[in-house]
Amino acid sequence: MPDIADARANIMQPGKQRTPATAWLQRSAKLWFVATAFGQLLFILFILAFYYRSTLAGNFAAWDSKPIIDGYIQGDRIGNLAFAGHVLVAAAMITAGLLQLVPAIRARHPAIHRWVGRMFMTSALLLAFGGLWLVWVRGTYMNLIGAAGISLNAALIIWFAAMAWQSARRRQFVAHRQWALRLFIVANAVWYMRIGYMIWGISTGGAGIGEAMDGPFDYFLAFGNSLVPLALMELYLRVGKSGSGGARLAMAVALLVAATATAGGSAAAWFVMWYPYI
Ligand code: HEM
Repeated sequence: MPDIADARANIMQPGKQRTPATAWLQRSAKLWFVATAFGQLLFILFILAFYYRSTLAGNFAAWDSKPIIDGYIQGDRIGNLAFAGHVLVAAAMITAGLLQLVPAIRARHPAIHRWVGRMFMTSALLLAFGGLWLVWVRGTYMNLIGAAGISLNAALIIWFAAMAWQSARRRQFVAHRQWALRLFIVANAVWYMRIGYMIWGISTGGAGIGEAMDGPFDYFLAFGNSLVPLALMELYLRVGKSGSGGARLAMAVALLVAATATAGGSAAAWFVMWYPYI
């Protein structure tokens, strides 16, 4: 049975031998985490300032003061309550996910790691099932391809949460780390979607983005918001386990690019999508 030390292994540590390539990979993974934390804190800030303020004050109609598909619908008590729950849980889930990646908490406070982990997985599942309800029962979607893309995201969240939970219970900590990292990525796909729109919109002037989210880029991003970051994470996990020096260096460069895109896209989302409405 794997030792508890496995659980305390640095999640950002891609290999045991610290060759120069491994050291570079570790450095860029840390930088990726810093950029991720920066961008997610901005998203959390927006959710608190915009959604928590209006929802906790009972002013559901204020949701519609920003562009949104449905948000508040007069007379739809259950749908409005479901959406209120969705946005309230969202900030809790993103915060819990971030805390799970802080190495010091995992290493020094395993009990906190376990409790925050349960909170992260439970809230990710609530968002996935609740989100599926919003799409397929309340009917909140712009087009069927977008609905299919976000539903794939929900399915991946449910699958990865089940695997991360099961491997933790069985104390298979190496497998747990991998499933938990995959879950972290797909649970944050809606945030990656906003980053994707910002980077693409700014660099192309909005090519392929349709009025009703029905352009080729919209269709690509409907699935790409989960699958592109997940592919990068899979590569990272594989290269970290058995990659050559060259592969580790290439992965370090890819993570640097991802960190830059994450920080830049999140800052742009703050100024374009979030700050103007709070
Ligand atoms: C698991 C992580 C998730 C987080 C953190 C999250 C967060 C959010 C936030 C912050 C909003 C408000 C949108 C805005 O102001 O632009 C929202 C809306 C929404 N989400 Fe999620 N969500 C998640 C997963 C999902 C999933 C998996 C689905 C569907 C299967 C989903 C479906 C929806 C729908 C339908 C809306 C309403 C959009 C509207 O009325 O315009 N969400 N979500």
